[in-house]
Amino acid sequence: MRTESSAAGLLERRIPRSGEPVPALGLGTWQVFDVAGNARGTAEAKGALKLFVELGGRVIDSSPMYGSSESVTGQLATELGVQSQLFVATKVWTSGKQAGIRQMDESMRRLRVQRLDLMQVHNLVDVQTQLATLRDWKTAGRIRYLGVTHYHAGAHADLERIIAPGDIDTVQVNYSLAEPEAGRRLLRVAADTGTAVIVNRPFAEGAMFERVRDRPVPDWAKEVGCTTWARYFLKWILAQPAVTCVIPGTRNARHLADNLGAASGPLPDETMRRRMSEHFNSL
Ligand SMILES: NC(=O)c1ccc[n+]([C@@H]2O[C@H](COP(=O)([O-])OP(=O)(O)OC[C@H]3O[C@@H](n4cnc5c(N)ncnc54)[C@H](OP(=O)(O)O)[C@@H]3O)[C@@H](O)[C@H]2O)c1
Repeated sequence: MRTESSAAGLLERRIPRSGEPVPALGLGTWQVFDVAGNARGTAEAKGALKLFVELGGRVIDSSPMYGSSESVTGQLATELGVQSQLFVATKVWTSGKQAGIRQMDESMRRLRVQRLDLMQVHNLVDVQTQLATLRDWKTAGRIRYLGVTHYHAGAHADLERIIAPGDIDTVQVNYSLAEPEAGRRLLRVAADTGTAVIVNRPFAEGAMFERVRDRPVPDWAKEVGCTTWARYFLKWILAQPAVTCVIPGTRNARHLADNLGAASGPLPDETMRRRMSEHFNSL
């Protein structure tokens, strides 16, 4: 497993297709950055984005499906002057070639970028049509990487089929202690085909915190730096070597710092991962 770290001390993983290193902990914007017109929410999102970059974070994930999240991300990144430090990922989520092009043009305008780091086909909507455009855009230099996403194990077989030829740069998928199915096959196929893995829903949309409630994190897990439940959940994911970047969603500065902390220090080995899984499943 690669254990390189950035200048800020964050664990980095390389995008297999290019060898480019990215911090292994990113930021999701679903719901949490959909705050246009909400002054308090916008101030919180701005504080979170500022802290994210200060702590060495770079990868931020959005979608035209996420309300105002793309516009808010573009606005705040510009106000903070951090645009050039970010690795900006968004998605295309519509049917038809022309509709896809219109939506992607609009996303770039909203995100205030001339070129996107990563464009993904959201939930495999009209996937072959949109991938054809993404291949053209990558050749033309409008995007740097292309990928596909889904959030449900029911789509893992389709994701596997799409990445199998080895010409998709990234696959974004749900993977966590609560939703471990990608670990059965998909992550291995990604590793074998040189496809970077971006992990969404690392906390099963927050439901995992409900499950552990106010129970303490076991002392044996603290030996590998799992000092909070968020770190327990994230380090379990990060210990899977096929994982390139995990993107928990939050605009809460305390939660954000907690999450980024999972990307430094030790990671659990296989024996410890199994123990973590058994313990979580017993709760
Ligand atoms: N199909 C797709 O492509 C797809 C589908 C789903 C998600 N995604 C992407 O993946 C990202 C992450 O998924 P998600 O947002 O659905 O779920 P998630 O990251 O599993 O969970 C987010 C929830 O966890 C809470 N949380 C975050 N950090 C915490 C911490 N340290 N301690 C306690 N609570 C914490 C957040 O609450 P607070 O706000 O209070 O911190 C929020 O309610 C999304 O934002 C999106 O970018 C993509």
